[in-house]
Amino acid sequence: MKIIVGITGASGSIYAVSLLRELSRREVDVYGVCSQTGQEVMQSECGVSSIDFPSVIWNKPDDMFASIASGTCCADAMIISPCSMNTLSCVAHGISNNLLQRAAAVMLKESRKLVVVPRETPLSIIHLEAMLKLANAGAIILPATPGFYKQPKSIQDLVDFITERILQIINPTT
Ligand SMILES: Cc1cc2nc3c(=O)[nH]c(=O)nc-3n(C[C@H](O)[C@H](O)[C@H](O)COP(=O)(O)O)c2cc1C
Repeated sequence: MKIIVGITGASGSIYAVSLLRELSRREVDVYGVCSQTGQEVMQSECGVSSIDFPSVIWNKPDDMFASIASGTCCADAMIISPCSMNTLSCVAHGISNNLLQRAAAVMLKESRKLVVVPRETPLSIIHLEAMLKLANAGAIILPATPGFYKQPKSIQDLVDFITERILQIINPTT
């Protein structure tokens, strides 16, 4: 299985870190692409960078020659987590300013699974309309809003809630 993980400059890089850790335990090829701001926020919030995930095949955000920029890559699923409103709006409007956005556009045009984990509050009408547009185009909108009914004891419990929901949807080999 081929999974693409896109990481943007929204707050909540811990969601990406948790997802990458879980995927690295499974028999899947993980292709990673992190926007410029995504790298900065991940370093600031989690103190980690892409080199801390050596099993991931990392692509530079400006490398439009990367395999994931093409429909022939045939990834099974892509998750953008956390997803900024900037990236969400670009993808919703068919804009591919960087490799992350292009890879997401490819998933939509090839009718493949695209899971978007937006993190912003409050949401403007522009944000809501962009989410609706993406959902209509086939993306799954999975907001970074963990449930509290499992009596979480830690931040990691809250993060795990979202990671588990993503894994249920993409269903990678266990
Ligand atoms: C510390 C920090 C936290 C941010 N948090 C959010 C956020 O939660 N949601 C969001 O949409 N943008 C957030 N931003 C703004 C985005 O990083 C900014 O819009 C950026 O252009 C996104 O670029 P990208 O989509 O290419 O990653 C944050 C920026 C910084 C520096």
